[in-house]
Amino acid sequence: MPTTSAVRVRPALPADVRAVRALVEPYAQARILLAKEMVGYYEAVQEFVVAEAEDPATDDGAGGPRVVGCGALHVMWDDLAEIRTLAVDPAWRGRRVGHALVVELLARARALGLRRVFCLTFEVEFFRAHGFRAIEGTPVSHDVYAELLRSHDDGVAEFLDLARVKPNTLGNTRMLLDLDDPDRPDEVGPGGAPLS
Ligand SMILES: CC(C)(COP(=O)(O)OP(=O)(O)OC[C@H]1O[C@@H](n2cnc3c(N)ncnc32)[C@H](O)[C@@H]1OP(=O)(O)O)[C@@H](O)C(=O)NCCC(=O)NCCS
Repeated sequence: MPTTSAVRVRPALPADVRAVRALVEPYAQARILLAKEMVGYYEAVQEFVVAEAEDPATDDGAGGPRVVGCGALHVMWDDLAEIRTLAVDPAWRGRRVGHALVVELLARARALGLRRVFCLTFEVEFFRAHGFRAIEGTPVSHDVYAELLRSHDDGVAEFLDLARVKPNTLGNTRMLLDLDDPDRPDEVGPGGAPLS
């Protein structure tokens, strides 16, 4: 069990891919997250951030920092991206690692000039605490929908709610965050606390 919450969020490196896959795998097996092939993680590595535990004492004897969380921001259109593959090591859940990852991914979204961030999740309260609201349907125009249909990405297929991925999305909630919201909810921590 970890003994400290000292965690640093940084861009993922190719060398992190095996650790990221190991984090995601149990959630993918439980059909909570979408699985990827190894090559898919390498191809997408620049979309990912990782949370690294700084305290070697938390490790299982191996020493050194280790990856305890990950998440990705996948751009879908000129104003829109998705937070995906957000995963925290079960031993670290509830210690604000997920929160730190979301803050970083939303900062990336703003730096890219995006206005809306989508997610598809079972963790409705977690995302609601970060300013996301549940939505119905696919929040793009018909023209953009038609363009997105050309994507080979399974996450985009889920966003479009295509029949072939319905089994993956059963029970998930579609959620959206408006980054232009004047209340800037993503800058407020869960429970309304200002971010540190
Ligand atoms: C969702 C997930 C990333 C959250 O990570 P975490 O590190 O456990 O969450 P945090 O500790 O940062 O939680 C932040 C806040 O949200 C709250 N919270 C977290 N999960 C919650 C839930 N399921 N319901 C209600 N509140 C929740 C926490 O209480 C905390 O509030 P506080 O800081 O006021 O106490 C993690 O639970 C996870 O890996 N889930 C499985 C994968 C998944 O579903 N990913 C999302 C889809 S991409």
